[in-house]
Amino acid sequence: MSALRKSHENMLVWEKLPGTEVRSVFFEKLNSIQSSIQFSNNKAQIITVTSAHKGEGKTFTSMNLAAVYAMQGKRVLIIDADMHNPRLSKSFQQVNKPGFSSVLTGVVDYQEAVQETGLENLYFLPVGPLPPAPTKLLNSEHFQTFIACVREAYDLILFDTPPILLISDSRTIGAASDGVILVIKAAYTKKADICRAIDLIEAKQDKFLGAIYNDKKLSKREMATYSYY
Ligand SMILES: Nc1ncnc2c1ncn2[C@@H]1O[C@H](COP(=O)(O)OP(=O)(O)O)[C@@H](O)[C@H]1O
Ligand SMILES: [Mg+2]
Repeated sequence: MSALRKSHENMLVWEKLPGTEVRSVFFEKLNSIQSSIQFSNNKAQIITVTSAHKGEGKTFTSMNLAAVYAMQGKRVLIIDADMHNPRLSKSFQQVNKPGFSSVLTGVVDYQEAVQETGLENLYFLPVGPLPPAPTKLLNSEHFQTFIACVREAYDLILFDTPPILLISDSRTIGAASDGVILVIKAAYTKKADICRAIDLIEAKQDKFLGAIYNDKKLSKREMATYSYY
């Protein structure tokens, strides 16, 4: 689990997205929701992390965010809900163990599938055996029951999900969450795709919490200015 600490120290930064100095619709939109990100008072207890495409840092962000909160003493559950590309489960070497999909099909109770991670306070629910039709599984009643149960059991629940422009899963999971975070890869994610992704998130009840601008290189002075909140 030291890798978690390392990657957190190295990379993840909550960015105050530019709003005042950049006048594009795109940045104004992101800036307007920035103030609604309020992890500290638990208003957003269940959070879905998504991005427009693959490889933009959803898994990296989810993992780092989960670790940061666990290190602050919060009881955190991170869920590999990417039933298409379960990278979290791979990194924990937990592919094909009972997990999220097993909970959705009612095969196991979530408590039987949740694992400790080696980092205190951080718990992990692997993806489970990959189902042929993952999206359908999310309509299961078991999903709603699961949401209600984890809300009682953890301070923060993070869903690592597939890309929102390609697969609808993160919209469904987002709708059951308190909020959705969009990961944007610097100098990579197209503005039009970011806007499309935000529109999709907002179409499911106003769940957009904000964006994480991933990969941005910051100077030491900037690093000192930015914080995780
Ligand atoms: N900020 C970052 N710094 C360094 N590596 C990163 C960063 N964000 C993502 N990566 C790496 O880029 C690759 C793709 O990221 P990943 O989180 O798996 O993307 P996604 O889940 O959106 O498909 C992974 O190897 C990941 O470790
Ligand atoms: Mg991923």
